[in-house]
Amino acid sequence: MTTDASETTPKPPVFAKSDSTANAPQGEPLVVLTSVNKHFGALHVLQDIDLTIHQGEVVVVIGPSGSGKSTLCRTINRLEAIDAGTITIDGKQLPQEGRELARLRSDVGMVFQSFNLFAHKTVLQNVTLGPLKVRREKADVVNRRAQELLDRVGVGSQADKYPAQLSGGQQQRVAIARALAMEPKVMLFDEPTSALDPEMINEVLEVMRDLAREGMTMVVVTHEMGFARSAANRVIFMADGRIVEENTPEEFFSNPRSDRARDFLSKILHH
Ligand SMILES: Nc1ncnc2c1ncn2[C@@H]1O[C@H](COP(=O)(O)OP(=O)(O)O)[C@@H](O)[C@H]1O
Ligand SMILES: [Mg+2]
Repeated sequence: MTTDASETTPKPPVFAKSDSTANAPQGEPLVVLTSVNKHFGALHVLQDIDLTIHQGEVVVVIGPSGSGKSTLCRTINRLEAIDAGTITIDGKQLPQEGRELARLRSDVGMVFQSFNLFAHKTVLQNVTLGPLKVRREKADVVNRRAQELLDRVGVGSQADKYPAQLSGGQQQRVAIARALAMEPKVMLFDEPTSALDPEMINEVLEVMRDLAREGMTMVVVTHEMGFARSAANRVIFMADGRIVEENTPEEFFSNPRSDRARDFLSKILHH
C-alpha cells in the first residue's frame, strides 16, 4: 500500500470562491483608487474613495439609489473625470484624454443596465466593431473570436440576427461578449440584470459566474444577493458617496456593522 501523500492530499482548488478562505485578495493590485473625489455641482458624489481591486477578485458594490455606485464605475472607465485623487489600472494612471486614454479605457470592459447594443448592426457586428475600429485587428481573427465569445455566452446561433430579435437576457449576454471582445483586464457591471424579466436574470448571472470562475477581475453593482454570496470575494457598501463598509459576503450579510447597511439590508431582503 502506498503512502504517497500526493494521492491522499486533495489539490487546493484554483478558484474556490464559495469557501471562506477564498476571500483573501486573489493577486496583484489591478485597479487602485486613491482619495478619489468627484462633484456634480454642489453634490459631492464621490467622497475620499480608497479602493484596491486585485487581479482575479470579484467585488460586489451595493447601496441605496443615488449613493454613487454608477459614478464610481464610470470614473474607473473614465466616462466621468474626477476632481481629485488618482485611479491606476495595472499600475498606469488614467490620463484625462487622448490616444493613451483610449488604449487604457479598452482595458476596462463595461456592461450597463440597458444593454446599449447597436440596433442597426447584427449581433456578430456588435461584437466585432470595437476590435475592428478601435484596435484595428484583422477581420478573420476578430470574426473567429467574436463567434467563440458568442458561443461561450450561449448565443452563438443568434450571430446574424439583430438585437431587437433577441430576448433581454440574450441581448445582455451579447453585451458581455462585446465587452470581452476587447480583451479587458477588468469588467465592470452596472446593475446588469435590473432591466431584465425575472426569468432571464439567472442566465446572465450564470455567464458572470463562469467569468468569475475563470479568473476575470470584476466589479459588479447589483442587488442580487445570491450572486454576491456565491461569486463575490468582497462586498462594498456605499451610501452618500462614501464606502461605508466592506467585508466578505458571509460577514456582510450576516453581521453588517453600520446602521446604514443594516437598514438597507432589511429593506432589500424583506422586499
Ligand atoms: N451627470 C450627472 N449630473 C448631475 N448629477 C448626477 C449625474 N450623474 C449622477 N448624478 C447624481 O449623483 C448621485 C449619484 O448617482 P449615481 O452614481 O447614479 O448613483 P447610484 O448608481 O448609486 O444610484 C445622484 O444623486 C445622481 O442624481
Ligand atoms: Mg446606478
